[in-house]
Amino acid sequence: MSDVAKNLSAADKETQANYEKLANVIDLYSGKEGCLIQVLHAAQEIFGYLPFEVQKFVADNMGFSVSYVSSVSSFYSFFSTTPRTKHDVKVCLGTACYVRGGKLLIEKLQELLGIGVGEATADNVFSIHVTRCVGACGLAPVVVVDDDVFKQVKPADIAGILDQYRGE
Ligand code: FES
Repeated sequence: MSDVAKNLSAADKETQANYEKLANVIDLYSGKEGCLIQVLHAAQEIFGYLPFEVQKFVADNMGFSVSYVSSVSSFYSFFSTTPRTKHDVKVCLGTACYVRGGKLLIEKLQELLGIGVGEATADNVFSIHVTRCVGACGLAPVVVVDDDVFKQVKPADIAGILDQYRGE
């Protein structure tokens, strides 16, 4: 057992086992080029997502600042810092979508779901995310729910879009 995992006595057994796995991965990759991305991939495989505590564990044990690990985790869309929800609602904030009101769509989502960006509803049905350009700039602003792309979305459309996924 690594020293890192030994210090996790307060964690439950499964969590402790997960941290021990992650500690082993860190031992394996530390110092290699691109190691942080590899470690974060492994961490996401192990925990299902990258909560703050896991990002901090990675930062502390790899000699990075938490803010650096956080910035890498949030930069790449394949990393998730929230638990997987039934439906991921992503609002594009690429230039075209931003200029055509993407931010207003986020505000409407936050108002209707009562959560912030990067958060999940208590029933784990919806989470809100920001995404970069999804290649539909001509029809901005764009909202993506799971794999469905909604184009030229207005704040007034948001409630109807969410309704399509409730109870599914
Ligand atoms: S900027 Fe949103 S689809 Fe390109």
